[in-house]
Amino acid sequence: MSTILRRLPPSEATGLRTGARHSLAELYRPADLVVLGLGVIIGAGIFSIAGQQAATTAGPGVILSFMIAGIACLLACLCYAELSSTMPTSGSAYTFTYVIFGEVWAWIIGWALILELQFAAAVVARAWAAITVGAISNFGVRVPHQELVGDVLVFVILVLLTGVVALSARIGLRALWIMVAAKLLAIGAVIVVGLPHIDVRNFGEFHVPSKILPRPPTSVLEILFGQSHAFGWFGIFAAASAIAFAYIGFDIVATSAEETVNAPAAVPKGMIRSLIIATVLYLAVALVMVGMVPYTKISEDAPLTGAFRAVGVDWMVHVIDVGAVLGLTTVILVLIVGQTRVLFSMARDGLIPRGLAAVSRKYHTPTRVTLVIGFVAIVLAEFVPVLTMQELVVIGTLFAFAFVAAGVIVMRRRMPYLERGFRVPLSPVLPGLSLVVTVWLMVNLQLLTWAWFALWMAFGLLVYLVYGRRHSLLARPRIPIEPARGRHRR
Ligand code: ALA
Repeated sequence: MSTILRRLPPSEATGLRTGARHSLAELYRPADLVVLGLGVIIGAGIFSIAGQQAATTAGPGVILSFMIAGIACLLACLCYAELSSTMPTSGSAYTFTYVIFGEVWAWIIGWALILELQFAAAVVARAWAAITVGAISNFGVRVPHQELVGDVLVFVILVLLTGVVALSARIGLRALWIMVAAKLLAIGAVIVVGLPHIDVRNFGEFHVPSKILPRPPTSVLEILFGQSHAFGWFGIFAAASAIAFAYIGFDIVATSAEETVNAPAAVPKGMIRSLIIATVLYLAVALVMVGMVPYTKISEDAPLTGAFRAVGVDWMVHVIDVGAVLGLTTVILVLIVGQTRVLFSMARDGLIPRGLAAVSRKYHTPTRVTLVIGFVAIVLAEFVPVLTMQELVVIGTLFAFAFVAAGVIVMRRRMPYLERGFRVPLSPVLPGLSLVVTVWLMVNLQLLTWAWFALWMAFGLLVYLVYGRRHSLLARPRIPIEPARGRHRR
């Protein structure tokens, strides 16, 4: 087998070979995983991106965009559920790919996950700062030098949350429960208070006729068509790709598998339940939002608060503000946790410096790697216009979804004997469908996003060839590459 295609034996996937110092303690119970999932899923996607997409791309049809993205993510979630129930390890898609497709592919997926999680933390931190400044202003406090205040807030939130993740997963978990409850109350209030204000005439043109836009084509699909479109079916599908951002997070639950009690059963349940709850809430919020105001009047900057102002329920502005500030806080927190677990796994396998896999004896967390992640997130959020680059998060995520879907099919054939805590129904049809739908969503993304993604991947490949390939633990002869059939144990 070529060196770069060497595969990690499933029995090695949880890293037991590296000794107790590198094992993470079991912390999460099944209910924690649902909270973890809701903590990271519900965030900027519903509080900001949904409204932007309704106003500019899909009109009231944004509800359909939410359904399409939701179905695509549910298919991907089932595939993640099967693989993480078979290999409950903190590396998630990176480790699955290592076992199924080999080292270089694993590296590529790990590199895509770094893009997803690191950029997402920076994007959401920026969105958090903007919402916080808005919330302070809405309370009647004048905020001078808003940009500078935003920069300071980004710094403060990232330092604070990095500290929480580095010092104690337990403090983080307790805070998470409280903040997720507050976020769900705010979302519940949007639905309950908003429902009576729905005016069905706002759905009138549910399927707004497609418009040709006077700008050069930008998405891969537009370039293929040779024209720029918005609204109509084209807009509904294009918005679905952007809205996939709102669903990102169920995949991050998989990175907690190594720290979950009875992971093969608990992780699939946690992922699927949190995604279903989020999907139902999203559809209800989208319905209320486009029902309250004509889509042409939805504010791109503050869609939900703007909608309640438009119908004269001003007090809801504060409820939404508080929910959004706490809600986005939990998103950043869990993104940082997920990122630490992926990098921890890559370091444990030797593909990045092994020192990063060290678990602090005092705090029982991978402190070093957490500090690196916090630092990089601060640099990105402060110096890169991340809010215009949120599609990079989506492309990195969808890329991993595609490998996970293909992985289910390949693993069923190649390793049918492995114990699975959860099985995707109707395989290979559903994983195959997941693969097709994921690729379709990717084609709807901007060409520029693809170009940045290609550049990032090319750079990553170079890093692998120069460092990872040589330092991989599998490059050491004492590690058995492929243990005998039937002897795999988790
Ligand atoms: N799904 C997360 C959000 O919408 C990333 O903020």
